Amino acid sequence: MSNVPVHPLPSYLDSEHLGPWGVYLQQVDRVTPYLGSLSRWVETLKRPKRTLVVDVPIQLDNGTIAHFEGYRVQHNTSRGPGKGGVRFHQDVTLSEVMALAAWMSVKNAAVNLPYGGAKGGVRLDPRNYSQAELERVTRRYTSEIGIIIGPTKDIPAPDVNTNAQTMAWMMDTYSMNEGATATGVVTGKPIALGGSLGRVEATGRGVFVVACEAARDRNIDLAGAKVIVQGFGNVGGTAGRLFHEAGSKVIAVQDHTGTIHNANGLDVHKLLAHVANKGGVAGFSGGETMDNAEFWGLETDFLIPAALESQIHAGNADKIRAKIVVEGANGPTTPEADDILGDKGIYVVPDVLSNAGGVTVSYFEWVQDFSSFFWSEEEINQRLERIMRDAYTAIAQMAREHKVTLRTAAFIVACTRILQSRQVRGLYP
Ligand SMILES: NC(=O)c1ccc[n+]([C@@H]2O[C@H](COP(=O)([O-])OP(=O)(O)OC[C@H]3O[C@@H](n4cnc5c(N)ncnc54)[C@H](O)[C@@H]3O)[C@@H](O)[C@H]2O)c1
Repeated sequence: MSNVPVHPLPSYLDSEHLGPWGVYLQQVDRVTPYLGSLSRWVETLKRPKRTLVVDVPIQLDNGTIAHFEGYRVQHNTSRGPGKGGVRFHQDVTLSEVMALAAWMSVKNAAVNLPYGGAKGGVRLDPRNYSQAELERVTRRYTSEIGIIIGPTKDIPAPDVNTNAQTMAWMMDTYSMNEGATATGVVTGKPIALGGSLGRVEATGRGVFVVACEAARDRNIDLAGAKVIVQGFGNVGGTAGRLFHEAGSKVIAVQDHTGTIHNANGLDVHKLLAHVANKGGVAGFSGGETMDNAEFWGLETDFLIPAALESQIHAGNADKIRAKIVVEGANGPTTPEADDILGDKGIYVVPDVLSNAGGVTVSYFEWVQDFSSFFWSEEEINQRLERIMRDAYTAIAQMAREHKVTLRTAAFIVACTRILQSRQVRGLYP
């Protein structure tokens, strides 16, 4: 019998508009030749295990009823329960959540955490709603997806526009429905609810740790190195601060409000305070405003994309003059742009490795919740750094062995682990 699937795509996807899921499929195709006999199982990676679309109705503060589209996708659970964030954004689509869930499977396997991959989202712009409305959205969404999440099934966490408060509401709602406090159902919780020290900064810290490893490989001295950052929220803000504290010069930062530039280096602490106050970098007095498109062409040692996906694309990749790109965001580089950066000799540390710090400390949080025994921040940061460094070393070694990019190497390491688990578990029934 032929190995070709009867339907190459699930019927709920539009083959003309695959969005981020199309990007992910191309990445899987690139890694397949390196999977040896495991390639027999590769179709597993191209089909999310479970896709739940829910209606989230709430009463708005003005008394009217609003409906929002919510998703939870469990891409793969061969290596353990699903794990991945929940995003609130007006442009969230099923294709995007599927891709983000798949990248979580790859990421968790790339750094060897005992998890599968999952992701969730609600299609709304949270800036248009009050805290009380967002609480109602979160609680209803959690109830709707409650049938598939749980501490040993699928563990959500914060992502774009969600935070520790969102996780507290999710944990409370799930616990109320279960009739028992279940701290382990979500991670990224407030410390008072079983959250972990170091979680808030973990993704940005992980980005910084792998950037240090990449700098060593490429003979770049961190002190005085130039850095540009797109997205100055949780991930970009923390990474930018750690570079600044290591003596690097953060010369430009871009967010949804604009781009700010200072060739002598921005005062990152002041910029963080400004963003906390004003909601964005626009209007910061410690630098001059720059055209958004010009940001990409700045000469720099490091470029840290830490906003949304597909920000580095065929239209701007050619302009990039960074030596190293460390992906803080998920999926910030399209496959065409990846090839362009590769041809230019730019060293790209891929998202599935470089932004795995958040899920790594989420894993620590989950372990601490199960044992009800909590570690110090120092212990957490040390363990995080060790996992990130070991993962970087193994993936860089794989890249040298096969003469492939770090992204392909990360996918080889991760997909091999996932498909090995799939194979030894076997198919049920
Ligand atoms: N928070 C985590 O632990 C974590 C973990 C892994 C990956 N990520 C990924 O990192 C990225 C950022 O997440 P975050 O938690 O820092 O989110 P955040 O909401 O804290 O920050 C997002 C940042 O992106 C900026 N932004 C939004 N739209 C933009 C646009 N069109 N142009 C330029 N900038 C824009 C915002 O202004 C903000 O500075 C996302 O891709 C997310 O999936 C986050």
